Amino acid sequence: MLEPCVFTIFGSTGHLSRTKLLPSLYHLEAEGRLPEGIVIVCVGRRPWNNETWRKEVNRWLEERIGARLDNQRLSQFLEKIHYFLGDIESPETFVKLKEFLETSQGFSDNHVFYLSLPPAEYKMVAHQLAVNDLNQEEAGWRRLVIEKPFGYDLEDAQTLDYSLRKDFGEHQLFRIDHYLGKETVQNVFVFRFANLMMEPLWNRNYIDHVQITHSEMAGIEDRAEFYDGAGALRDMIQSHLLQLLTLVAMEPPPNLDAESIRDEKVKVLKSIRPIPKSAVHAHAFRAQYGRGRNGDRNIPGYLDEAGIPKHSTTETYAALKLYIDNWRWRNVPIYLRTGKRMAGSHSFISIRFKHPPQQLFRETQIEEIPPNWLLLGIQPEQCIRAEMQVREPGIGMRTRTTQLDASTCYLPENGHQLDAYEALLLDVIEGDHSQFLRSDEVHWAWSVVDPILKVWAVERDFIHTYPAGSWGPLESNRLFEKESQAWRNTLASE
Ligand SMILES: NC(=O)c1ccc[n+]([C@@H]2O[C@H](COP(=O)([O-])OP(=O)(O)OC[C@H]3O[C@@H](n4cnc5c(N)ncnc54)[C@H](OP(=O)(O)O)[C@@H]3O)[C@@H](O)[C@H]2O)c1
Repeated sequence: MLEPCVFTIFGSTGHLSRTKLLPSLYHLEAEGRLPEGIVIVCVGRRPWNNETWRKEVNRWLEERIGARLDNQRLSQFLEKIHYFLGDIESPETFVKLKEFLETSQGFSDNHVFYLSLPPAEYKMVAHQLAVNDLNQEEAGWRRLVIEKPFGYDLEDAQTLDYSLRKDFGEHQLFRIDHYLGKETVQNVFVFRFANLMMEPLWNRNYIDHVQITHSEMAGIEDRAEFYDGAGALRDMIQSHLLQLLTLVAMEPPPNLDAESIRDEKVKVLKSIRPIPKSAVHAHAFRAQYGRGRNGDRNIPGYLDEAGIPKHSTTETYAALKLYIDNWRWRNVPIYLRTGKRMAGSHSFISIRFKHPPQQLFRETQIEEIPPNWLLLGIQPEQCIRAEMQVREPGIGMRTRTTQLDASTCYLPENGHQLDAYEALLLDVIEGDHSQFLRSDEVHWAWSVVDPILKVWAVERDFIHTYPAGSWGPLESNRLFEKESQAWRNTLASE
């Protein structure tokens, strides 16, 4: 049974809180999954009180959940929410917050502090909580949740980590990457380690290469300032895509406890062949979307977007070629790719197997028979598919590609799907770290991309472009090791 707790959200008026945290907490309440006696404290600097705040939350939930809101559950949920007025820049806020948390009737001694704040505020807020002993666990547990990005580059990540760990123990820190809460991500784990038949094939002897793609049709929306300072490599590859890579490449852990899983993930990150600065161009490609079209709609280029400096060379597309230097993966290229304003919105992993070693089917050249693929859809389609060759009915020995669904392939419908945040928020309350990043995991992930960031930071004169609404720049094909390799853009047979 989950223990009661006080769940305090800093930055509760922000985008993440409105679109993910509060709706997820509502869904958990509606499903009866929140612990008895949970209280949700929303810290904000807007001059609101409990009444105005609850009206706001009600409005956001109506906008987001619409007709599926259950009025009775909603009122129960709103009763659990309290607004705490305070500016985090003022140390006084934390003194008053402590007093509020400790003297309010019915509040548990277990606390979650969720920093849904600009990353620049993490260190200061964590420190102020510690100064006020809100990190001390004598009376109950204390947990601090932070959102990616965990730093701006390797050095900044180390500084952040040092500072957070001065004030909180590693067991109190929950570094959230909501990708890890997605169902298919967890399915990758089950698929690999609950099925013996994949294991003999899962290595350099049979796998030609691996691709991990996250593409978005959307542009930068209203996040111009954030995005122009970050770029695609930091925003997606350093975090989400490297996490997916660790799940595909890791060895089976000795058991499913959080430390065993995280140990194996760290081993993968540590085994990624370092990219020296002199090899950055051979391993990494960046580009920016120019003007383009989506159907009959004209789409502005990145430099036309409001808030983007006219000469920005921030990448909206990044692709990497990595190698993992261990017995299982040595010399198998792993291609990671992400982009905004692409032709489709998908996240998926595609694993291409090698060709059979001998030509048996005389009517088809062996190199022309498409290879086997294993496809793991993360979003929006969630599925696991194997692409095989079968005999084409009729005279002669001709082959065609067919797909076997190893797991139900579905697109989320209008009904409520379990959101990644729901699972992860429950994990925080339960104290389960297995889907959260450990300090050394963050360090090694930054180590992979840091040399690339350093080179790109000084090469600011030129960046390739690709038309908005396309699958990205053709020039990125130069990363492929062989002519037979190409980006896979869909889960459907090509
Ligand atoms: N949005 C997402 O989908 C998403 C996804 C992944 C990670 N993240 C991460 O989650 C964090 C929050 O993102 P977000 O999109 O929600 O940002 P946001 O919309 O800019 O919200 C930031 C929040 O911080 C509050 N805040 C800032 N300075 C404050 C101060 N001095 N005192 C009190 N409150 C203060 C803001 O209050 P006001 O409303 O009063 O300005 C607002 O509630 C960021 O670290 C982001 O990188 C977000």
